[in-house]
Amino acid sequence: MKKQWWHNKVAYQIYPKSFCDSNGDGIGDLPGIISRLDYLKELGVDILWLSPIYVSPLADQGYDIADYYNIDPRFGTMEDMDRLLAEAKKRGMYVLMDLVVNHCSDEHEWFKKACEDPDGIYGRYFYIETVKDGHLPCNWRSYFGGPVWDKLPGHDDKYYLHVFHKKQPDLNWENPDLREEVYKMINWWLDRGLSGFRIDAIINIKKALPFRDYPADREDGLCSVHNMLHEAKGVGEFLGEMRDRTFAPHNAFTVGEVFNEKEEELPDFIGDNGYFSSMFDFAETVFGSSRQGWHHNIDITPDDYRNCVFAPQKKIGEIGFISNIIENHDEPRGVCRYIPEGEADNVSKKLLAMMYFFVKGLPWIYQGQEIGMENIHVDSIEEVDDISSIDEYRVAREAGLSEKEALHLIEKYGRDNARTPFQWNSDRNAGFTEGEPWLRVNPNYTSINLEAQRNDPDSVYSCYRKMIALRKDPEYEDVLVYGDFVPYLEDRHNVMAYFRKTDDKTILVMGNYQKEKAELPLPSECRRILLSNLPDVKTEGNRITLEGYQAVVAEL
Ligand code: GLC
Ligand code: CA
Repeated sequence: MKKQWWHNKVAYQIYPKSFCDSNGDGIGDLPGIISRLDYLKELGVDILWLSPIYVSPLADQGYDIADYYNIDPRFGTMEDMDRLLAEAKKRGMYVLMDLVVNHCSDEHEWFKKACEDPDGIYGRYFYIETVKDGHLPCNWRSYFGGPVWDKLPGHDDKYYLHVFHKKQPDLNWENPDLREEVYKMINWWLDRGLSGFRIDAIINIKKALPFRDYPADREDGLCSVHNMLHEAKGVGEFLGEMRDRTFAPHNAFTVGEVFNEKEEELPDFIGDNGYFSSMFDFAETVFGSSRQGWHHNIDITPDDYRNCVFAPQKKIGEIGFISNIIENHDEPRGVCRYIPEGEADNVSKKLLAMMYFFVKGLPWIYQGQEIGMENIHVDSIEEVDDISSIDEYRVAREAGLSEKEALHLIEKYGRDNARTPFQWNSDRNAGFTEGEPWLRVNPNYTSINLEAQRNDPDSVYSCYRKMIALRKDPEYEDVLVYGDFVPYLEDRHNVMAYFRKTDDKTILVMGNYQKEKAELPLPSECRRILLSNLPDVKTEGNRITLEGYQAVVAEL
């Protein structure tokens, strides 16, 4: 693997709508982000990914783009964006935007023109089919529920494809003119000084054609899109072309939202000259998920979590550099998911942080993760904004779950959990806005907020700062960035431990992933404790005693 400038960096995801509101309209915005750059610098992060801020009806919170070349006025102006790029650069930071090109919005002019003339140039930018006798071209179920086909406005016999929401028509990547438009747009942004992109839902751009049915997997007679993805061949041709025409000539950093990759494809995706610089590891986020819906999901245990994190580490080795997360804007808060229910506190939150942060790859922090933000309680479906939660609620109710049980699923898995406003302080609305926030603030902001943690050396926030500083400490940077990943005590129940090793250094990261104390062997004496989430570390020769949820990073 060739060394790259970004390997020793730390990345941070901003969900602009919920980060910081500068003008009191209840919606976070670009000036708000700019006002917090010094905070992000203090935390120690270098690369910032902004979830979409392009012009959008916000049907899927910006992942439905109506104009790729402009900023939605609710988020600010192009001048604000230029200022953000300049201010980030001044601080040695890099800005990534979200690249959403599997689909656009049904309010994009391409789609409007396609509706006017389905047989014209823009009709070919989408998948539009003529339907006779009401028989849809295939029985795939959209990710947000219902068939992937909807009537093309103005044409009773024509349907268009949307694998996500009906306001997100899929773009037809088989059409070279569409691909040219996409590359032009990417280059336009990179020329403005953007450092790269996070690439949304990209595996979906290749469809298995011609459209056909797969066996239904629910009573609705529809089937998961995954059947089709499994069969679709040739996404690499599109991705390689996109890289050669856009990212490579700009030396841009890219991270793909890639699901379902096959092991033998890893070098193509993230090897030297891969389609992307990096891609997210989703092994733990998809664990236990069911095609039946959230009501059929299986909870993840500490041992499962460890196995999920370790599996890609073992597969990837020297092939490339994966991106590691515990949460993002599509997932519940990591501390509520990967720590058994009722056991999330400052100590266990820091354990989880230390476990994922030091495995090999680029560590990502999702806004609010650094202060241990938690899932939000849901009293009624009326409070829910997330379109996927609303669909899953319906599915759960139809499967016979009570209202209370269905709401509990939203509390566990819903996307609003990560989208509640950032908790800056204990003032009204957690200091996020002077107005009415677009999504309710988690009432726990009075105790969980940045201000309360900033100067507390034992806070979750301080733990993140220390972890970042350690990864950048010249003495440990090489081993923590490039050292081999080697699992340790892998068959010990509720223990997560691994080494990072170079020829001249060995670091042990070890966590006791349970309430009960554990006495564990060490391969050799600890030379130095670099980090611990509790004040005392009890070692005796080659043995260490870890308190419940204690975690340490030690040099051997
Ligand atoms: C990705 C995004 C998600 C969005 C979907 C459709 O998974 O992360 O938020 O809903 O793509 O664009
Ligand atoms: Ca605002």
